[in-house]
Amino acid sequence: MQEFYKINKVAGELTLPGDKSISHRSVIFSCLADGVSTIKNLSNGEDVKSTMSCFKKLGCKIEQQDGLVKITGKGFGNFTEPKEALDAGNSGTTARLISGILAVQKFKTVVAGDESLSKRPMKRVIEPLELMGGKIKASEGMTLPMEYYPSENINVISYELPVASAQVKSAILLAGLHLEAETKVIEKIPSRNHTEVMLNLPVTHSEGKTIISVSKKNYPSPADYLAPSDISTAAFFIVLALLVKDSRLTLKNVSLNETRTGIIKVLQAMGGKIEILNQRKISGESLGDLVIYGSRLKNITIGEEIIPNIIDEIPILSAAGLFAEGDFIITKAKELRAKESDRISALCSNYKELGLDVEEYEDGFLLHGKIKNNKPVFESFGDHRIAMTFAILSLVLDNGGKMNSFGCVSISNPDFLQQLQKITRQ
Ligand code: S3P
Repeated sequence: MQEFYKINKVAGELTLPGDKSISHRSVIFSCLADGVSTIKNLSNGEDVKSTMSCFKKLGCKIEQQDGLVKITGKGFGNFTEPKEALDAGNSGTTARLISGILAVQKFKTVVAGDESLSKRPMKRVIEPLELMGGKIKASEGMTLPMEYYPSENINVISYELPVASAQVKSAILLAGLHLEAETKVIEKIPSRNHTEVMLNLPVTHSEGKTIISVSKKNYPSPADYLAPSDISTAAFFIVLALLVKDSRLTLKNVSLNETRTGIIKVLQAMGGKIEILNQRKISGESLGDLVIYGSRLKNITIGEEIIPNIIDEIPILSAAGLFAEGDFIITKAKELRAKESDRISALCSNYKELGLDVEEYEDGFLLHGKIKNNKPVFESFGDHRIAMTFAILSLVLDNGGKMNSFGCVSISNPDFLQQLQKITRQ
């Protein structure tokens, strides 16, 4: 059980580990490429380690030296048949993105995951990959473990995504990298665009939709990558600094990709003082420094179109909303139920622990009323973002709070407690 005590000051500067989404993709593109690539500031979370372990089993060489990761990729069509199942651990991004690559290989592979990942929906990647001719056998309920068989007949598709999902989009694009003709993915509501930005894919817009094209021409070459600090990790520190009076916190080199900055926009619209300095681009990806000041917040209406942009930040956003003027309400966010935990249910259960009036909907929830329990014991539900949300919330409660199974924070940020210690005073 982890205990958290009320803090009174947030000050100083942090440089956080690399963005998880960009880190996964840097590893994957390096492994596809023929030769040596390097990655600076790679995420040190378990999820990215899962991606690395899968590609090691496919024959890639991955070495870490002084904060730099050196990857010797196999080149087109040269992965070796793994001797055992690939383990995606807790990582949906690993399982879904690698599906696009495994579906077009000339050998059989098996992918498995932990208990949480084995419950998450895989139909969304199986369907388009089968339309491309992939032969995939999933477990009951279209879940992991999944088997991928060689197919003689892999074809390009033009596919409109039924759910806004960067993981599904990326799985199709990764399969499309192996084909001469053009595969197209069509999005109604934009999801994070790291795959297309990092591979420099052609993107067009028509009738309010985004169309991304890919072919073998876009197959990656060895490169030197830099992962900017993870904005989804930064979000926990941003909210903490906003909630504590007279705070001034600097977060350096944060990823400011416009498909990820919704959290900054929403918090600014709620009255949060967040300054962006030194904004620049490296390999197509934006980054900059954030300066955050303690602020008085008020709740606002959060529109449907921004939901995919803030999907991973909704847990911590709700904690900001709890301390803001007015009721916090989120709707049209049913995807939260398909994350590392059912996040709607996990959030509602922890808010009920505080004695709040919570209305749970199929696609969101509303928080109303005052905190009545001043000795809360929260559950992480084995979900890193739920654990960090209620850790931050505990730090602003008069009597702090406790958290069960806090260790899952290592999925995205193993150094969370040390980082907190560096910038907080009691
Ligand atoms: C991710 C996409 C999102 C996000 C996840 C990372 C990615 O998932 O929630 O943490 O790196 O592509 P969905 O594609 O399922 O929305």
